[in-house]
Amino acid sequence: MAGVTTVYVFNGPNLNLLGTRRPEVYGTATLADVEALCREECAAAGMELDFRQSNHEGDLVDWIQEAGAAVKAGRAVGAVVNAGAYTHTSVALHDAIEGAELPVVEVHISNVHRREPFRHRSYLSPVAAGIVVGFGVRGYALAIRGLCPTS
Ligand code: DQA
Repeated sequence: MAGVTTVYVFNGPNLNLLGTRRPEVYGTATLADVEALCREECAAAGMELDFRQSNHEGDLVDWIQEAGAAVKAGRAVGAVVNAGAYTHTSVALHDAIEGAELPVVEVHISNVHRREPFRHRSYLSPVAAGIVVGFGVRGYALAIRGLCPTS
């Protein structure tokens, strides 16, 4: 069950391979390292972390709906979402974020705009509260800061 002030972090396909997948693009940190840095950032902000990864689009849709309900119930502030390649293809994720009215910060480890043209389009950006692109895995910490209320 989500805590009073949960931050969700959702990771999409192939992000379970972080550390070994194209390290020249994504770096050498593993997904476990990313979870640890997110946990540290949340703890510093007095927030609880709910960190997940799936290779399946429907899981991400379900989690976005769940997180939207948690925000509406006052138990969460929103979600950091790195949807991986679904970023560039998924109307379903766009509709889920919009439909659930979930505050989302979209994250990409790499600068997608310096890469292949098919990575330049994001179906998430038009429904995201903010975007962090190209800062490596540190972008997750920046995105968490963006979601957390400032004192
Ligand atoms: C990514 C960029 C996407 O284009 C790619 O499909 C990924 C990772 C990133 O974090 O840089 O899987 O989202």
